This record gives sequence, structure tokens and C-alpha cells, in this order.
Amino acid sequence: MTAIALSRRTFVALGLVALAAWPATAQEQRRFYAPPPLDTVHGIPAENGMVVAQEKLAARIGADILRQGGNAVDAAVATGFAMAVTYPRAGNIGGGGFMVIHLAEHNEDIAIDYRETAPQAATRDMFLGADGKPDNDKSRNSALGIGVPGTVAGLALALAKYGSGQFTLAQILKPAIDLARDGIVVTDDIADTLPDMYKRMSRWPDSAKTFSRTDGTPLHEGDRLVQGDLTTTLLAIAEQGPRGFYEGAVADKLVKAVRDAGGIMTTDDLKAYQPVIRTPVRGSYRGYDIVSMPQPSSGGIVLIEILNILEGFAMADMKQGSAASLHVMIEAMKRAYADRARYLGDPAFVDAPTQLLLAKNYAAKQRAGIDLARATPSADLLVAKAAPREGSNTTHYSVVDSRGNAVSNTYTLNFPYGVGLVAEGTGVLLNNELDDFTAAVGASNAFGLVGFEANLPGPGKRPLSSMSPTIVLKDNKPVLVTGTPGGSRIISAVTQVIVDVIDYRMDVAAAVAAPRIHHQWLPDEVRYETGIPGDVLTELRAKGHKLVEGLGYSSANSIAVTPHGLLGAPDPRTRGTEAAGQ
Ligand code: DON
Repeated sequence: MTAIALSRRTFVALGLVALAAWPATAQEQRRFYAPPPLDTVHGIPAENGMVVAQEKLAARIGADILRQGGNAVDAAVATGFAMAVTYPRAGNIGGGGFMVIHLAEHNEDIAIDYRETAPQAATRDMFLGADGKPDNDKSRNSALGIGVPGTVAGLALALAKYGSGQFTLAQILKPAIDLARDGIVVTDDIADTLPDMYKRMSRWPDSAKTFSRTDGTPLHEGDRLVQGDLTTTLLAIAEQGPRGFYEGAVADKLVKAVRDAGGIMTTDDLKAYQPVIRTPVRGSYRGYDIVSMPQPSSGGIVLIEILNILEGFAMADMKQGSAASLHVMIEAMKRAYADRARYLGDPAFVDAPTQLLLAKNYAAKQRAGIDLARATPSADLLVAKAAPREGSNTTHYSVVDSRGNAVSNTYTLNFPYGVGLVAEGTGVLLNNELDDFTAAVGASNAFGLVGFEANLPGPGKRPLSSMSPTIVLKDNKPVLVTGTPGGSRIISAVTQVIVDVIDYRMDVAAAVAAPRIHHQWLPDEVRYETGIPGDVLTELRAKGHKLVEGLGYSSANSIAVTPHGLLGAPDPRTRGTEAAGQ
């Protein structure tokens, strides 16, 4: 691994730029989440199985598959395809993601990497302008940022290999097809986000056509969203399997739309796309096993490193949400996120020291550097490189069935509604996932963060992610299924849900609703949600932390498996989340 030495002065300057450029949608900027009193928040019970997702129709479709005897994977795949129709902000077939599965029968844990991939024509300087500096517009707002989509191949693989075998792909797709053809009422989170995002999307005629009223204004709450072209595309997948998407008429249209918009994806890129079955990363935390996503997501490794550091502190003796508890969490996050920045990338291209990062004795060394009285300045954790920028839209859902199988799935278009381009004639909204690459080594990117070698763009490379679909096991049985959207804030959010459930014995719904904090090494600041008491904030400031209110979007839709049944925790932060049980 190579390292670039940054001077302390450069480092501090980069941190300052990053602070100014924190990404937030207009929706995020408008309102801060205000948590309900946590003792009033309780998980939603179910006996036999449950899907907790960010959109209710899709959650119910998954639960219905469970009711018909399907397993958690069948339900997860049905929910994933349904959300491509009902939750276009992040549900997708034009993006990618990660699925972590626990199969009870053989006590097997599997990770499916269906992350988008850079086209073969990608180059390491593809996101630089003529002046050699990062051109943010290229990766975020242009078709150059579109990665070869992985969702269709990933979900189809999950169903074929780990589904119950009771359902064909066509049967699993049928509810999504019906909703695309018959239309859905615009409500909840789409109603909250579409009007904001419409301007960006309506640059392209098919995006405007799909998401507008006849008078050309964006669809609003109560309107009907009918997706005829998407129906045709989903039917092609139902009839031909993934080939109906990656080859033939749909593929030709996708490529034409991307290239007409200035992108570089080819029909060969689509044809060559392959999801990867990976061994999940595994750690332990106070006798529980943590099973999560390996690279090209940083999620599992960073999560486990944070938990390993925290394990050496008596968290249960510190009050939940106290300055003492938050301080050690912040310090652990800071160190693990610095390692993320320094080492991680697509494992096909980067040889990261993952065993070291996951080791308990490495965490012990990190822990020894934590001062209980003072914040360590990020500059003192000076490593060569900083974290890549993050986008602002993704979705997570959790599934548990009556047989003890569990699925944790996070997938994304990156920004809300991706790059905003619906490929003409397909109904497919495309991602801008390649923005998760770092545009240039040593230069600040769209979010003011320094880029680094391990995550530069390259042909066939997958950009580093923070998505952290996670299953917590006790004695080989799932006890918690969790994950969230939120870009770089994903890993810190998942950490807090786990610590609140394991150390503080909180009801899973209260753990999900509890206000969260976040530190990602750079910028050197703690982001916090409204609801953290003033005296706690004062104490944290006294320890030297710089605090900034507002953490942005997340939605940690989780399920706890308790001795008394399942408890669903739809995150109250976004409208329309649902725990659909059976
Ligand atoms: O893969 C990643 O880490 C990002 N593309 C995820 C983006 C995300 O979670 C945005 N949601 N707020």
C-alpha cells in the first residue's frame, strides 16, 4: 500500500473545506429529526416473520411472500424489486448494493456484492477537469458517474441460490410489475423528496415524463405514479431473467441513453456484469457475533473495528447517551474511519490489511490512545489519506422468517433518484455511484475530503462504499438485523444501534429512534441529532469536541429476534417506514 504524506497544515486546511461541503439534500437542510421520548417507543411484534423497510407497499409484498411460505431471501428479493417501483429515491434496478444472509439450516452466512462497477473505458483521471483538478459535476451530475448497475443480477442470484425454490423470478417480480403498471399513489417519502429533486431530474425528457403531471410540474402527494416503461423492463426480466436487462433491447436502450448523455458505458460492460458472492466479515462483541459486509464496502470492517475498540470499555456502566459513553464512541469512530480512508478499496485492486484491522489486539492499541478526558484531534491521527465523499440516498431493509433465516439488505442509487436520468424507453432510473470513487490523490473532492490511491477510479473497479448490512448472532442464531442509508454516517449509526441493544439492553425500536452522533475522522467535528441533552453537549465540548447539529438522513430499519418473538423497528426518521409482520 502506498502512502502520501500530507503536512499538518494541508491536513487542517482539508478538514476545513470538508466542513463547509458536507452533503445534504434540501429536505435534510429543512428539518432536523426530533426523537420521541424513548420510553414510549416499542418494537412492533410479529411471531412468524417480518420485513421492515422504508416503504410500506414493498414491506407488505415481502411479508406476503413469507406468508405464502417463502423464506427470508424470497421476501428480500420481492421487496427489493418492489422498491424499484414504489421508492424510486433509492429502491432501484439501475443501481447496486449489498446483501448479507444468514441461512439457519446450514448455519451459513453469505454476503452478496452487487455493487455497481466502473465501465471498461473508465480511467483514473475521468473525474478531473481540464485544469487537472476534480470536476465534481462530472461524477455527481453527469452520465460519467453512472456505474454498471448490479441490482438485477444481485437479486436474481440471491433468489436462485438462496431462495426457498418455491418461487420463480417471474412470480417474485409480479407484485412489482403490477404496481408499476397500475400505478401507486405518491405519498410519504416520495412526496417529501420528489418535488425537491425534480428540477435536477427533468433535465432528461424521460425523467420528466415519468415523474411529472401533464402540466409539467412534478408529481405531488396524492398524485398517481404509473411507470409503463418500467413495467416493460420488469416483464423482460421476468421472462428472460437477468439477460432481459443486461442484454438485448433493454440493454441497448440503457447504453444509448447513457452515451447520449455523455457517459461511457457499453453493451459489453452490461453483458459482463457479475455479482460476487463473498465471505462476510466477522467480528465478536461481548459474546455476540457480528456478520457484515466486506470490501468493496468499508462498512463491516470499520463497524467491527469500532466495536472492538469499545469492547474494552465498560459501556454498560456509562449511562446510555451520556457524555462518557458518547466520548468513547466518537474516539473509536475517529480512529476506525481514519483507517477506512487510509486502506480500503475494491479488493480486486487493493490489498488492504483487513485481518489487522479486524484484530482485537489492534483495537487494544487504538484504545490505548484514547484519552477519557480529552478529544484527540483528528490531525494527531494523521494518516496519509481521507475518506471519500458520500452521496445522499440509499435504503435499507431487514427480513427474518419463521425458519430462523435473516436477510439484511442495503442498496442505492447514491444520490436521491441517482443521477436523475431515466434511460429512455426503459423506466430505469440510473445511479451516480461512481461519485463514491475519489477523483484525485491528495486533492479535495466534492465534499472537501482528500482523495487517495486505493479508491481512484479504474476500469472494472467498484467504488468504496459505507453500506453496512449487518446481522448480529448469538449462538449462531440471529438476534438483530440492521443497517441504514446515510453515506458515511451509515457505519456510526449501525454501531449505535448495536451498542444500544447489546450494552444498554434497549428495545430495538428505542435504539433506532435514539438520537445519534457521528464522527468520520475528517472533518474533525461531531455531528449530532437534536435530542441530545444540553448538559451532555456541554460536557463533550469541555472535552474538546467540536459539535455541529444535524446529522442528515438515515433510516435504520431493523428487526430484533427475542425469546418472545420478533420486534420490528421501522425508523421514525422517514415517513412511510413499515414493519410488516406475519
Ligand atoms: O455506497 C455508499 O456508501 C454510498 N453511495 C451510500 C449513499 C447513501 O447512503 C446515501 N444516503 N444517505
